[in-house]
Amino acid sequence: MDMLAEPYRIKMVEKLPMLSRREREAAIARAGYNTFLLRSDEVYIDLLTDSGTSAMSDDQWAAMMHGDEAYSGSRNFFNLQDSVREIYGFKHVIPTHQGRGAEHILSSLLIKPGDYIPGNMYFTTTRAHQERAGGIFVDVIIDEAHDPASDHPFKGNVSLEKLENLFAKVGPENVPYLSLAVTVNLAGGQPVSLENMRQTRELCSRHGVPIYFDATRCAENAYFIQQREEGCKERSVADILLEMMSYGDGCTMSGKKDCLVNIGGFLATNDGDLYESATEIVTLFEGFPTYGGLAGRDMEAMAVGIREMVDDDYIAHRVSQVRYLGSYLEGAGVPLVKPVGGHAVFLDARSFLAHLTQDELPAQSLAAALYAESGVRTMERGVVSAGRDPETGQHRYPRLELVRVTLPRRVYTRGHLDVVAEAAATLYQKRDQISGLRMVHEPAVLRFFTARFEPLKENLVGSE
Ligand code: F0G
Repeated sequence: MDMLAEPYRIKMVEKLPMLSRREREAAIARAGYNTFLLRSDEVYIDLLTDSGTSAMSDDQWAAMMHGDEAYSGSRNFFNLQDSVREIYGFKHVIPTHQGRGAEHILSSLLIKPGDYIPGNMYFTTTRAHQERAGGIFVDVIIDEAHDPASDHPFKGNVSLEKLENLFAKVGPENVPYLSLAVTVNLAGGQPVSLENMRQTRELCSRHGVPIYFDATRCAENAYFIQQREEGCKERSVADILLEMMSYGDGCTMSGKKDCLVNIGGFLATNDGDLYESATEIVTLFEGFPTYGGLAGRDMEAMAVGIREMVDDDYIAHRVSQVRYLGSYLEGAGVPLVKPVGGHAVFLDARSFLAHLTQDELPAQSLAAALYAESGVRTMERGVVSAGRDPETGQHRYPRLELVRVTLPRRVYTRGHLDVVAEAAATLYQKRDQISGLRMVHEPAVLRFFTARFEPLKENLVGSE
């Protein structure tokens, strides 16, 4: 299968916990069948998230020794600024403790109550900050993004028609900016094409509406463009990324993903006035504008990580790992979201556990069963994550009932991926024996983090 060999070698190793099946069953029961409540030392292969879980390079670790822990004007800030200017092309940079810190600043400066913020599918923290500032999120992604079976190569694209309709309906003066995610996490890590960005830019410029990228996984998006978009095969990922960013006015960034660091993020903009206002508000919530809640050493690690993320060999390998896992699973008949995206494989729990109704929580059950089977930790992205409708108090029933199998960057080997794929394939063979779950403890806010469950049958994975 088409997985590239690692363009790096191992200099330091970390021992993994290897629990017996009986120990894993006890652990998941103790965790209330919620993978978030497992201790990480009960997990063999941790695919809960790609956020803050990357392995840093020797250059990044070395850079950390150059931490300049000055309260203001740290040299690490200027190195970070140089990296962002060079790789993203934005003029002003404000470091933040992570992505949501930047989202908070941007939302509170640009949104006034009653404004509409279009975006190519929501992300939890991004939308929460927009709503907190009094804004109303409007989904303008193409319809294909909501269909797990559609194999559109750029499922993250903005629907120009939906965007145009929004401008006509509410007036562009009530749209402070378009939030453009590259790639789109909740659609399955799906990319946006350069052509779509160009057209979106034209449409927004005609109406005087700025574009702010959620650039969290921008290097993965640039790689998909290189592979899939006409005329881009010979271009470097760095060159494509710079063109992508040229269609926006700035970005928010979670450095914990593509920037290859364990903590950090930033807000970048070409708008001098916005930058001035942001320097005031960042001091209140994050820290002085030249450190924004980060230690000097963390800014330095991010400055180096930004340059590493556009290394063509690195990013090709990263995405090939995800593709490898996806094709292995597909070969075993395991149902998943197609095409496989940049950071994760999303299992389609609704068809995997077709004997369960959505009220029997198929994605939650599958994530728990996969852990019990193999020690692999994944994340539910279905009815439990969707929460209740604040108006009616009823569960929201999302069309996509998924388990996200997310790959940290530069952490696991092909051997690990084989374990994951084999475990999921084995579980698929005995899918009829997997019990549904019922929620026995339900927190009011973001319930998926701490909710507790019980199997509907005696055992989670029974014997018949
Ligand atoms: N935008 C996207 C698309 C994200 O995936 C995340 C985080 C954020 C913004 C917020 O960034 O965590 O640094 O504050 N996603 C993580 C995940 C939590 O597991 O997908 P943050």
